[in-house]
Amino acid sequence: PTALVLNGPNLNLLGVREPDIYGRETYDDLVHLVERAGRDLGFSKVACFQSNHEGVLVDRIQQALGTYDGIVFNPAAYTHTSIALLDALKAVGVPTVEVHISDVPAREAFRQVSYVRDACIDTVIGEGLEGYAHALAILKQHLDKKKG
Ligand code: DQA
Repeated sequence: PTALVLNGPNLNLLGVREPDIYGRETYDDLVHLVERAGRDLGFSKVACFQSNHEGVLVDRIQQALGTYDGIVFNPAAYTHTSIALLDALKAVGVPTVEVHISDVPAREAFRQVSYVRDACIDTVIGEGLEGYAHALAILKQHLDKKKG
């Protein structure tokens, strides 16, 4: 199977941005981790894409229909605001696992809602960058089960 790993705003600044919360590894490190995990799990292709723009993320989700079997998605701050991203995920119906690097439940009140969660098969929270590998494993298991 194939997967799209989609990252929202400010995740291009991993390693620089609030390292106490998000760690010192960079976005490039994340891409390498994801590519390795994808290979190890038996994905034929795992593509990474990051944008700071909500509409661009909507476009990518729409393009995933018929292109990727699943999505691993960290919508970053848009998690807590974006009905458009929720609607896009519901519109395409591509199986999606939500991921957050930090321990969101332990953080500010305004981070306690996730609009996208309703459209996701599972959520991985607070496991650092390794959470993306975990999310890919959950996605792979889901896709294997669906294939029967
Ligand atoms: C985040 C958590 C969000 O609240 C925050 O806005 C982010 C990153 C995470 O991965 O922990 O940008 O999604």
